[in-house]
Amino acid sequence: MKRIGMLTSGGDCQALNAAMRGVAKCLFHSGEDLEMYGFLEGYKGLIYGNFRMLTPADFSGVLTKGGTILGSSRTPFKQIREPDENGLDKVEAMKQNYYKLRLDCLVILGGNGTHKTANLLRGEGLNVVTLPKTIDNDLWGTDMTFGFQSAVNIATDAIDCIHTTAASHGRVFIVEVMGHKVGYLTLNAGMAGGADIILIPEIPYDIKKVIDKIEERNKNGSKFTILAVAEGAISKADAKLSKKEYKEKMKNYKYPSVSYEIAAKIQEKTGYDVRVTVPGHTQRGGSPCPYDRVFASRLGSEAGKLILKGEYGFMVGYRNREVVKVPLEEVAGKLKMVAPDASIVKEAKLLGISFGD
Ligand code: F6P
Repeated sequence: MKRIGMLTSGGDCQALNAAMRGVAKCLFHSGEDLEMYGFLEGYKGLIYGNFRMLTPADFSGVLTKGGTILGSSRTPFKQIREPDENGLDKVEAMKQNYYKLRLDCLVILGGNGTHKTANLLRGEGLNVVTLPKTIDNDLWGTDMTFGFQSAVNIATDAIDCIHTTAASHGRVFIVEVMGHKVGYLTLNAGMAGGADIILIPEIPYDIKKVIDKIEERNKNGSKFTILAVAEGAISKADAKLSKKEYKEKMKNYKYPSVSYEIAAKIQEKTGYDVRVTVPGHTQRGGSPCPYDRVFASRLGSEAGKLILKGEYGFMVGYRNREVVKVPLEEVAGKLKMVAPDASIVKEAKLLGISFGD
């Protein structure tokens, strides 16, 4: 008999259900005697003992369904060792619930923060297997995360739609793409949508260079310009500030986000008509794209295989076009970022795309 617990934690994304279905189908098809428990709303469910039993029927019809059938929430790693408002030791509570249900393993689906807690639980002696989800594709140890390709599709659609209206009106348009720390989504959607300027956190921008590019396009007869700007895009000047100085500056920040600041500066310096579009959480919503359905199913089934073999303490990831198992201690606490000299960045520059640097 194997008893498996499963949870989805952190910001949701497409293909979470497809991945869980992959795990479940592999395990239920194995013929092994099995009990599966789904903890509700991420680690919260494990901490407070909120769970429900999962049967094969729970995984029927969910391959194409966005969101997560288990619900999700953010449980900040920084506070995981702090008692809750009633003095409950959260780590101890998670362990107790694991032992109470006599679980053999926890399957945890999540991004960066989730992996830090998963690794902590592994260190506390629990058997853990994880799966890499996030639209940001910023998880260390895997070339790809599920959710990413679906989000690229949505952000690209947004840029495509903006293209026609920007061209009709001869306007400068900024499409703000998700990603506070890492720019994979903006870079890929920006390239796919034919953006003229791409601003990502890893390559701080100079507003003068951004304006130069717009003026250059204007001189060459292109009356409109599209910018794909990551939520976490940062100017060269701000990138030089210490964490404390930056925090201080942000206290009096008057814009809803960096895109509006950039828009105001372009407008002020050039007099051009500038508009901002923020697709926001639509990038995390809706059905997973076919790539993500296949990808998440593959990773899920490989996770099931690891569990059947009793191999724990790994994230199932993807490297050099192979599904691989990566030790959790290698993954936790590291961010995968776009290297400013990555070949994709160089190729984008060859296409004439400006990064404002
Ligand atoms: O980590 C995924 C992500 O969608 C980021 O791209 C984005 O910055 C953040 O989550 C938004 O978080 P929330 O859903 O808590 O607003």
